[in-house]
Amino acid sequence: MVSRWRQQSDRVALVPTMGALHEGHLSLIRQVREHAGRVVVSIFLNPTQFGPGEDYESYPRTLAQDVELCRREGVSLVFAPDAKEMYGTGKGDYSGYISFRISRMTDHLCGASRSGHFEGVLQVVNKLFNTVQPDVAVFGQKDIQQWFLIRQMAAETDQPVEILMGPTRRESDGLAMSSRNIYLNEEDRKKAPMLYASLQRISAVLAEKAGHDDQRPVSVNASLLEAEYSILRENGMNLDYLTVVSTPDLQPADVIIPGRLYVVAVAAWLGGTRLIDNVLLNTNAG
Ligand code: PAJ
Repeated sequence: MVSRWRQQSDRVALVPTMGALHEGHLSLIRQVREHAGRVVVSIFLNPTQFGPGEDYESYPRTLAQDVELCRREGVSLVFAPDAKEMYGTGKGDYSGYISFRISRMTDHLCGASRSGHFEGVLQVVNKLFNTVQPDVAVFGQKDIQQWFLIRQMAAETDQPVEILMGPTRRESDGLAMSSRNIYLNEEDRKKAPMLYASLQRISAVLAEKAGHDDQRPVSVNASLLEAEYSILRENGMNLDYLTVVSTPDLQPADVIIPGRLYVVAVAAWLGGTRLIDNVLLNTNAG
């Protein structure tokens, strides 16, 4: 089907997802529609990117509703394989022979605490690219480390696919939309927007300092991050990280060099739920 579209010179876009679609996913579909005549959405809860003890079993599965949402968005094809179809084994061992050896880009942020996660993500996204052969694919800024890794993987494996970034869609109180937000109890749901508030305060301070005319590097004071750490901790959040990293290498940044792109990123546990969020720090001078 995809090759027929290509023969008709329709550009093909791919939006990979794990289902439980929300407005964030739908915004990616709408964004990519501007770049291609045909939109394919993949829905596959990929076992290889979940570690032992993570939420693979309990992750929401809402396929019928997801397909209906895709239909309403004018999606041309929903690709929803099962694990056997994807990995060609019914044995529950999907490790495969080809694994992506990942560079320093996974030393920090989620890569540091979710061992094997990004190998699984790249394994499945590579397969999806090979199967669908999209001209363009879109991934959310919400999962910023994933975005940079996929772009790197696509470049290194010479996949002729343009990788777009979709802005993070948020609830009205600032909480980044996520399929995992439904796990939050009422009290934690009320606290969850504090993550974004902290990110905004940090980025406002750094952007203001870096925006001065002298173009001098600005140091990222530990006390700036510590103050926000304390606020979040006092509100019962168990922080995995709250940090500023440079791009595209995703290394912790002690200084901000005007003109370069940085990310202020956070991951925290609220009860049994791990939430992540980030903001881009675009010090547009230079
Ligand atoms: P999933 O968590 O379902 O997310 C699918 C896509 O939606 C990703 O590109 C993610 O960054 C994006 N997304 C999630 N929340 C968003 C929000 N609030 N606003 C905008 N975009 C958002 O990410 C995955 O699945 C998987 O790792 C996958 C890439 C599909 C590989 O299995």
